[in-house]
Amino acid sequence: MPGEIFGVIGPNGSGKTTMFNSVLGQITPDQGRIELNGHDITHKSPQQLNQLGVGRTFQTLQVFGKMTVRDNLIVAAQEHQGTMFGRMFAPGDSGLGAKADALIDQFRIRHVATRRLAS
Ligand SMILES: Nc1ncnc2c1ncn2[C@@H]1O[C@H](COP(=O)(O)OP(=O)(O)OP(=O)(O)O)[C@@H](O)[C@H]1O
Ligand SMILES: [Mg+2]
Repeated sequence: MPGEIFGVIGPNGSGKTTMFNSVLGQITPDQGRIELNGHDITHKSPQQLNQLGVGRTFQTLQVFGKMTVRDNLIVAAQEHQGTMFGRMFAPGDSGLGAKADALIDQFRIRHVATRRLAS
């Protein structure tokens, strides 16, 4: 249900990572069905799943060290704005700055927003 948070626990080799790889479209299950809000997503690619809002974070963070915190948020938000080709010819800001600012306020990180990650 919306807002629910689950943990997955199990012994080594019981299939936790395999389940996440299946849900994220990195491998295709031989059997069974994966649904998102009642829709079958079993055979969607990671790119298609990302567009639907299904994402994954790894323990090794992939961020742009030479860019500011705010600009990193803008880059991440761009992924939900159509194709790369479309974005190249989109007008200026497209509301991404406002989206980044809303996240900065939500997570109360305004004091570091203009800091480069690897300063
Ligand atoms: N449903 C499944 N059917 C067949 N083989 C599976 C299934 N789930 C996992 N496996 C296999 O079991 C092995 C271990 O699975 P996996 O790495 O997902 O376990 P894990 O729970 O993440 O373990 P760990 O706690 O060590 O990280 C892998 O070789 C995987 O291919
Ligand atoms: Mg694992």
